[in-house]
Amino acid sequence: MTVIVTGGAGFIGSNFIFYMLSNHPCHRIICLDKLTYAGNLSTLEPVMNNDNFRFVKADICDRAAVEAVFNDERPDILVNFAAESHVDRSIDDPSVFLSTNILGTQTLMDACRKFGIRRYHQVSTDEVYGDLPLDRPDLFFTEQTPLHTSSPYSASKAGADLLVLAYHRTYGLDVTISRCSNNYGPYHFPEKLIPLMIVNCLKGKPLPVYGEGKNVRDWLYVEDHCKAIDLILQKGRAGEVYNIGGHNEMRNIDIVRLICKYLGKGEELITYVADRKGHDLRYAIDPSKIHKELGWLPETKFSDGLRKTIDWYLSNQAWWEDIISGDYQLYYEKHYSNR
Ligand code: NAD
Ligand code: TYD
Repeated sequence: MTVIVTGGAGFIGSNFIFYMLSNHPCHRIICLDKLTYAGNLSTLEPVMNNDNFRFVKADICDRAAVEAVFNDERPDILVNFAAESHVDRSIDDPSVFLSTNILGTQTLMDACRKFGIRRYHQVSTDEVYGDLPLDRPDLFFTEQTPLHTSSPYSASKAGADLLVLAYHRTYGLDVTISRCSNNYGPYHFPEKLIPLMIVNCLKGKPLPVYGEGKNVRDWLYVEDHCKAIDLILQKGRAGEVYNIGGHNEMRNIDIVRLICKYLGKGEELITYVADRKGHDLRYAIDPSKIHKELGWLPETKFSDGLRKTIDWYLSNQAWWEDIISGDYQLYYEKHYSNR
């Protein structure tokens, strides 16, 4: 089986590549990644010499480059992780979100139609459902919840999801979509909440909490997400959407406090800053479909996963120091100074 993994130099894609190479040693994995600011070749160092792995630097919007990879490799499966993924950046400038997340998805599916494929899998997000009120803990996102997006990021992901389902109905392309809640774990880019707070805490820098810190996210350890995608590839039904989440809802401020506690720091670094525009209040997934149909359940408890993640950042300082010493500083200044 040959699997193309787009966006495999990013956070979840790289974890998925490691997962697939160790759990399916007969699969050939091709990583296609543009290496944007969020992609890191150093992340893939441990598998670069694996005979079953190949890295191709390419943009998923570049039709000729994508077709060349299909021509060489004749893949059986494509899993599309490649995306612009940060809500705050999408608020600053939506353009690249629309091109990569929507037109890139189209380019990949056109190549799948041209060369034939067993399965195209779209890695989507619970953010396509919009948000839930904080005072209705009984409500959850199901696969039937209408799409109702808040940010240019989530709108671009929802646009891609609709296009994927249209390619299934119109052209009969074999597709599946997974909509997962917030992931955390190793190789998470430091602009996102959990790694940002770990890195800032270690550096003794302020911990910028948006608004009052009461927004709720449903956190899942990245390896549990990878397992769910693998199951969908093996047993998921074509044309179906699967929600993935672990019933692990946490307020942002409680996560930041936990990180301070694990790192033995006081809470005086916590700084409340201006809220994100259009900030979604609460995400919460109902994962019963993937549980009933495919037998998936999350395996990592949040307290264990957070500890493993913090330990990873402590032992892999060179990985994140390299990132935060470059262009990231300009982004950080622009986004957080005088906020
Ligand atoms: P990430 O930002 O860490 O990585 C994205 C990767 O895609 C990078 O390696 C980048 O170089 C690559 N990329 C970007 N534009 C590209 C292009 N035009 N062509 C080729 N490669 C390109 O993102 P992530 O957090 O790993 O998210 C992966 C996917 O999972 C995204 O589609 C995201 O919407 C989805 N998702 C993420 C989360 C989360 O909590 N991080 C939750 C649910 C769904
Ligand atoms: P983020 O990691 O950007 O994921 P998403 O917005 O896709 O859920 O943010 C998670 C939550 O943390 C979100 O409610 C915004 C909040 N947040 C902060 O309070 N401060 C920060 O510096 C960042 C990056 C996020």
